[in-house]
Amino acid sequence: MVEIAPSILSADFTRLGEEIAMVERAGASYIHVDVMDGHYTPNLTVGPFVVEWVRKATRLPIDAHLMIENPDNFIGAFAGAGANMISVHPGATYHLHRTISYIRQAGCQAGVVLNPATPLAMIEEIIADVDYVLLMSVNPGFGGQKFIPSSLDKLRRLRDLIRFKSATARIEIDGGIGPDNAAEAAAAGAEILVAGSAIFKAGDPAEALKKILRAAQSSERVTV
Ligand code: DX5
Ligand code: ZN
Repeated sequence: MVEIAPSILSADFTRLGEEIAMVERAGASYIHVDVMDGHYTPNLTVGPFVVEWVRKATRLPIDAHLMIENPDNFIGAFAGAGANMISVHPGATYHLHRTISYIRQAGCQAGVVLNPATPLAMIEEIIADVDYVLLMSVNPGFGGQKFIPSSLDKLRRLRDLIRFKSATARIEIDGGIGPDNAAEAAAAGAEILVAGSAIFKAGDPAEALKKILRAAQSSERVTV
């Protein structure tokens, strides 16, 4: 079943607890936290300290997307702060297999992230060891960017790769997702849809989330 992970990057941080409660009531399945270090990404955001506060605001699983160099140094801190899922970029760590093991040892689900220009081949040898693959449909760094259309074909090829390897990894898509492309993304294989600005910048964020969910659920059984 397709699920929604609102990204708090576009939330109003003066009322973060209320924003999280609102998306939880509207049907969110995860809270997506974008962690940026100003080195791997051209932007700085939040760290374990904010995850601790998110943990107090929700019972939903926290999906920590680490866009940081040397993620190994912070896995313990994010797990300790209450993250349930931690994903890392292959280009940000020297020994991806070890990093994935650290995430598992910390009691979290482990994800690997593909940037728009990162080939699927990059994850062939690790796909059986991860709980999910996060496919970036924008370049990491900012909320509110435009969905890169070629991501749909990449989603299909990722789905095929997972099947071919008899792996169980779920597929998460992140970047530029909204009511207009949620159906296509789900039909192409996305099982978790991250959406930031399309939810939190909408006039009625709860309704926007429901619209994305309805669109995705309507097409998830369509094979393309
Ligand atoms: C980008 C982040 C995304 C971003 C999504 O680096 O990984 O999670 O917040 O935001 P929207 O949905 O606005 O593209
Ligand atoms: Zn993200």
